[in-house]
Amino acid sequence: MKILVLHGINLNMFGKRDPAQYGTVTLAEIDQQLQALGQELGAQVECFQSNFEGALCERIHQAHADKIDAVVINAGAWTHYSYGIRDALAILKCPIIEVHMSNVHAREAFRHVSVFSEVVRGQICGFGVDSYLLGLRAAVRAIPSA
Ligand code: DQA
Repeated sequence: MKILVLHGINLNMFGKRDPAQYGTVTLAEIDQQLQALGQELGAQVECFQSNFEGALCERIHQAHADKIDAVVINAGAWTHYSYGIRDALAILKCPIIEVHMSNVHAREAFRHVSVFSEVVRGQICGFGVDSYLLGLRAAVRAIPSA
């Protein structure tokens, strides 16, 4: 099982940005926890972050070519307006789980909308790092025959 975890714009700044929303955990620490859980679940986890929308789109195209089994994505603010990333995700045949550290529905109105809603299996938000870990578990369970 190959699972791709995608982190979008500004998420490399976890640990430094808005600790009231995101705590103090760094992206490297999140990736370490995902790798550890992946081992436990028998899944190969690859993590990728970019602040460039085109780079994230191209990584998604690559996932299609690589026949990735599932994707976990926190696209940051792109979640709320990037039709480009939405359309790239729609190309994939595998299950996609959307995650957010903060509870986006308890924040500003623009964060209540996800343009990915129609192409993802579900959304997990508001649990900090656990949103990612729950997302990884959900991704493994969503893979047919896993
Ligand atoms: C976020 C929520 C988004 O609204 C925000 O733009 C982020 C982080 C989260 O993980 O809670 O950058 O995706």
